[in-house]
Amino acid sequence: MKRQRLHLKAPDNWINDPNGFIYYKGYYHLFYQYFPYELRWGTMHWGHAVSRDLVTWEHRGVALYPSTHEDRNGCFSGSAIEEDGKLYLVYTGVRYEVVNPEDPHTCLDEQFESAQLMITSEDGFHFDNEEGKTVIIPPLTDKKIGDRTHTRDPKIWKGKDRWYLILGSTMEEKYGEVLFYQSEDLHTWTYVNKAWKGPDYGWMWECPDFFETEGGGVLMVSPMGLLKNGEKEKNQSVCFPVEFTESTCQMEIPDQYQFTDYGMDLYAPQTTRDSEGRRVMEGWIRMPKPAEEGWIGMFCLPRIVERKGNHIYFRIHPNVRAAYSKEITDISCASEDGYMAVFELEDGETADIGGFLIKRKGNRIQTDRTAVYPSFEGAHLLSETPELTDGCRIEVLADKNLIEVYINDGEYVISNAVYGTGDFIKVNIEKTVHLYTLKEHGERTRGEE
Ligand code: FRU
Repeated sequence: MKRQRLHLKAPDNWINDPNGFIYYKGYYHLFYQYFPYELRWGTMHWGHAVSRDLVTWEHRGVALYPSTHEDRNGCFSGSAIEEDGKLYLVYTGVRYEVVNPEDPHTCLDEQFESAQLMITSEDGFHFDNEEGKTVIIPPLTDKKIGDRTHTRDPKIWKGKDRWYLILGSTMEEKYGEVLFYQSEDLHTWTYVNKAWKGPDYGWMWECPDFFETEGGGVLMVSPMGLLKNGEKEKNQSVCFPVEFTESTCQMEIPDQYQFTDYGMDLYAPQTTRDSEGRRVMEGWIRMPKPAEEGWIGMFCLPRIVERKGNHIYFRIHPNVRAAYSKEITDISCASEDGYMAVFELEDGETADIGGFLIKRKGNRIQTDRTAVYPSFEGAHLLSETPELTDGCRIEVLADKNLIEVYINDGEYVISNAVYGTGDFIKVNIEKTVHLYTLKEHGERTRGEE
């Protein structure tokens, strides 16, 4: 089985959203939307990868594939929970009403129907695709609740005394919404309530996630058609600090949101609890073309999500930080999984990471990937954070096809897919840049000598 470190990438062909992310029986399981036949989106399967530590990953092949009437054209996104030692996966099954005559992997004019399904596993590795699937929420029939076609991506969690499920939907394709369901036994689900913000917040909300943190509740959604700036990726992941009342499933969502990542490549993130109970997130990094080795789609590094006041932080996971513990003096000494560069930027200064530019302008960080990204109509090349509040400490995690820029320990993050970066870093001559790479197995590092 293929092993990868840090950034999990498509084993081959195409991947998109992370699914069913969970720490279960000593393994992190990360499933993902997978089209195993070509370098493009098509009939969705769930690919499967596992890790002991969120650093080293092993691809385990296909876990779910279309096999029933309801999911015959795709196993769309969903989530996982553990109960009584069993792993439960819930996901959206898609059935095309009219298949595209030119391509059996897509449908014609959005003519499809969506149901929510469940499948369980005793060990997290074996799934009975033939006999083990049940429909827990059939396609919606009440238009006042949500859409029969565009209702998907169930995220499930355990509340104080029952189970909850949040679903993404649309009100007549005018604005996105989330639907809340409750269950006492995981099998019978009752619709309770919904929440939305209106037409300025995208026409459909995909991949919702809700969780409580020490600092309060957080809602993450991926609204479609949010941006109207002429760029290709109009769908973007956003997060809100929210208040949620379990008994009524009422959610207060403020007007103001943050982008989950200011690089505008990250989409459809999903969170779970790590082995220490921290809230950890994975997200899909969209790529405009395949990597050199012939695969397309990858995930960001696992990030700890914290809320303080109304701000949501995305911090480097401690296991990742610990993995980058071998100090090096030159990036030519970095392992093939990349390196971490740590430095501060003053106003007006620029760091050049192999052609990827990071610049401080006032109290904002701007990036420019023009030199290391294909140029096409609507390409997003320049990114910018909002005003920083707490200095300007930069941690760059650079891999062959992905550069992640963490600012002030996750106050904001800019992650960008890149192609063909050079093996150099240029910051002001007198600047101190600390460089780290991955510890190889058995190697001793800083502090251990
Ligand atoms: C988000 C999404 C989900 C859907 C899946 C299909 O990227 O469109 O809403 O379940 O991808 O692959």
